[in-house]
Amino acid sequence: METEAAHGVWPTNRKDETPGVADTNAGENAKTPETAEKPPSRILSGIQPTGRLHIGNYFGMMEPAIRLQDEGDAFYFIADYHALTTVHDPATMRENVAGVATDFLSAGLDPSKATFFRQSDVPEVAELSWFLSTVCPIGFLERAHSFKDKTARGIDATHGLFAYPVLMAADILVYDSNIVPVGKDQKQHLEITRDLAGKFNDRFGDGVFTIPEPRIAETGSTASVPGLDGQKMSKSYNNTLELFEEEKKTRKKIMKIVTDATAMEDPKPTEESTLLDYYRLFASDDEVAEMIASFKAGGTGYGHYKQQVFEKLWERFAPMRERREKLLADPDYVEDILRTGAKRARRLAQATLARVREATGIAGHPISLR
Ligand code: ADP
Ligand code: TRP
Repeated sequence: METEAAHGVWPTNRKDETPGVADTNAGENAKTPETAEKPPSRILSGIQPTGRLHIGNYFGMMEPAIRLQDEGDAFYFIADYHALTTVHDPATMRENVAGVATDFLSAGLDPSKATFFRQSDVPEVAELSWFLSTVCPIGFLERAHSFKDKTARGIDATHGLFAYPVLMAADILVYDSNIVPVGKDQKQHLEITRDLAGKFNDRFGDGVFTIPEPRIAETGSTASVPGLDGQKMSKSYNNTLELFEEEKKTRKKIMKIVTDATAMEDPKPTEESTLLDYYRLFASDDEVAEMIASFKAGGTGYGHYKQQVFEKLWERFAPMRERREKLLADPDYVEDILRTGAKRARRLAQATLARVREATGIAGHPISLR
């Protein structure tokens, strides 16, 4: 892509496009000859365009996904069909999709390594969702936490929201994904995906679907990043530290983090401290140990610690802000990346759908209008 070189944002070393390795790979079920090299693991994840990305999204999903793009054939997408369950304004949808695309690229998703695309540019995924729904027991969906949580927060209890996990399973299975990096709150969705793949394979033949493995940080500072109010950080709770917000606003938000009323000279509790939780995300082990020691010693006010947290955060995202400036200046370039990614993704999805149609006895060859 000549635009890449022109931008100087990424090197132009797009890896293999060899048909038969990347495009028709069916994961562990691929009928690769014994002699052929083992295809790289397919890594897949998605993120909904429901608002501005925050540091919970970054540490829970984006950063692990960006690290994994060096270890396999990575596929990352913007889940706009999913977002339609909560975003009902077309202008907002378009703005969110463009925003998430730009911000994920700014954060380090490298389109010369990973295939990056918009979910709805591969409509086969909606078709696969139907196939999967015919093996999905209602009970799986009735037990899904996310449906219960979202409806409890007032989101319309539509069939789309109810069937959300089935579409997510289709996202994963349609690309023969092996590894799915997500945050802890997506664990149940991955279990449903594995169950649906197993049920489908039992009914229509082993080897239709590859069974994916979740890659989830269960413990540690990134497993569930707390929001400014101490609850889970979430786009829908109005408690986020955004990845790319103005300096002043970010500083103000950090200064407003609720702390206890310990006086400046007294030792401060180190358990359940949102400030320490944030510092752990950005600072080295030694720096964290130093802050903990200072908490215990007393004599320093929370304002000082907040300032330290802000500085570390700001420093960490500085290179990304720079890349973002360049990308914001050229939205066509970002759109071009998504379209290029979708072409590659769609070839794979069509191969899976052909296999599924064949296995189920549903018309093998959709008519062509050309
Ligand atoms: P949100 O709750 O902000 O709408 P999404 O549901 O779009 O976030 O999640 C996108 C990805 O980010 C998922 O993989 C999810 O697990 C991860 N994620 C979201 N919030 C957090 C958090 N507070 N801590 C860790 N990971 C998170
Ligand atoms: N449900 C995910 C979330 O809310 C987004 C998503 C949709 C996804 N399809 C996916 C994540 C497939 C991983 C794989 O964050």
